[in-house]
Amino acid sequence: MSSYDLVVIGTGPGGYVCAIRAAQLGLKTAVVEKRATHGGTCLNVGCIPSKALLHASEAFEEAGKHFADLGVIVSEPKLDLRKMMAFKDEGVAGNTKGVEFLLKKNGVDSYRGTGRLAGAGRVEVIAEDGGNQLLETKNVVIATGSDVTKLPGVTIDEKVVVSSTGALELASVPKRLVVIGAGVIGLELGSVWRRLGSEVTVVEYLDRVLPGMDGEVGKQFHRILGKQGIAFKLSSKVTGVEVGKKGATVTVEPAAGGEAEKLQADVVLVAIGRVPYTEGLGLETVGVQVDNKGRIQTDSHYATNVTGIYAIGDVIAGPMLAHKAEDEGVAVAELLAGQSGHVNYGVIPNVVYTFPEVASVGKTEEELKKDGIAYNAGKFPFTANGRAKVNHTTDGFVKILADATTDRVLGVHIVGADAGNLIAEVAVAMEFGASAEDVARTCHAHPTLTEAVKEAALAVGKRAIHI
Ligand code: FAD
Ligand code: NAI
Repeated sequence: MSSYDLVVIGTGPGGYVCAIRAAQLGLKTAVVEKRATHGGTCLNVGCIPSKALLHASEAFEEAGKHFADLGVIVSEPKLDLRKMMAFKDEGVAGNTKGVEFLLKKNGVDSYRGTGRLAGAGRVEVIAEDGGNQLLETKNVVIATGSDVTKLPGVTIDEKVVVSSTGALELASVPKRLVVIGAGVIGLELGSVWRRLGSEVTVVEYLDRVLPGMDGEVGKQFHRILGKQGIAFKLSSKVTGVEVGKKGATVTVEPAAGGEAEKLQADVVLVAIGRVPYTEGLGLETVGVQVDNKGRIQTDSHYATNVTGIYAIGDVIAGPMLAHKAEDEGVAVAELLAGQSGHVNYGVIPNVVYTFPEVASVGKTEEELKKDGIAYNAGKFPFTANGRAKVNHTTDGFVKILADATTDRVLGVHIVGADAGNLIAEVAVAMEFGASAEDVARTCHAHPTLTEAVKEAALAVGKRAIHI
């Protein structure tokens, strides 16, 4: 029987990063993955393929709608969906092969199959052909990720009624796409298919899009997507999806009750959240505790209630984000090697990769109000940023929230082109405990979109220059 210091179950961003860091620190490490390729949800059916399609569909829309404004005259662009999907698949393959290479390079052993906890210090690997292997290990890290939340009474067939996985590989552009849920997946993939020609209607239970993000951001973003042609039915619930010979009929009712209406759709995307995935892991054989949402319970060192078993990523509490899973992977590996691994949950950026992008880090205005924390807000619109003006990307703003007494940055919220990159500087600033004044006094290159961040920081002290 092979024997290890650490066996990691699942090679998504949490698991593979954890394994590499553990190997770097001298732990004899193995990973167990049931998928044919490494990289988990993120690389295979999540972050990477969705960003490839967002990139390609944006290029398609740009060529059709905006090139002429720049004096670039091209004939009307035509969509070759198969080629676009091949572009996406190539990106996925490049990334998953990269992870395989990194695991090998760091001396991590790879086992293909379902990992099952088989008593103290043992993991059983069950291969697809039924064969099994027993691994002995001092520690186990569970990084088995998450799965799609099902809508009661609605069967996902990945053809007419799809999850994000099916929506990333449709064979043709649906004429009418109904999206259930105005969260990250609904708005990113809704944007992809709208750009490629679908009429998109998003049905959301709550009275706003992107719940959990800053309210002002949600409002402005809702308006922008509306202008782009996405239709919204907020405060509405789907009570049934009936698949017919051609497409589906979606029954929608006001969330508070009232008259139902029927929407016709060629494809229905169910995007109402994700749930922790622990099927087949055998948690019950060793008695690992989960909470009422099915998340594996851990302490601040990622330890479960069972000695030697740890858990990280989407399968535990916290935002279901790849970079959160990665940082937890590093932290738990360092803790196992006797170091002081740590994740600062107050500074985890959250980005929606639509156009424009939405990015946030730290507290929202709603959270600060609820916590009774006095703050000053500085806001700067991209309409007043020179680079955004010349690029015709003036939708959106930067908002910085700083403690009213200490001026420490507590939260930053951006709607705008490249917001996902812009948020990085304020995340670093927050990690160092910076004040808005620190950001305002830092020289920012001209002409860049980053100047809008500096101006928002100046606006906290009511001294922005360009508005
Ligand atoms: P996962 O990536 O889910 O990996 C878990 C792995 O464990 C899987 O490969 C699975 O096969 C394997 N596994 C499960 N059980 C077993 C078992 N018993 N034995 C062996 N293997 C097992 N996040 C971002 O930060 N940015 C984005 O842009 C982004 N885009 C997304 C787009 C979509 C469409 C989706 C669905 C998600 C997106 N996410 C994004 C979320 C991100 O994918 C997850 O937060 C991230 O993948 C979580 O990493 P993880 O390592 O915890 O789990
Ligand atoms: P989500 O939690 O972001 O959004 C789900 C939405 O569906 C919410 O607005 C919710 O109010 C709504 N909803 C729930 N039940 C409903 C119902 N019955 N009818 C109508 N609306 C309903 O979940 P989503 O978009 O499925 O994404 C799952 C996870 O994947 C997210 O937690 C996110 O962290 C991660 N992800 C991250 C991305 C990124 O970082 N860019 C991209 C895609 C996914």
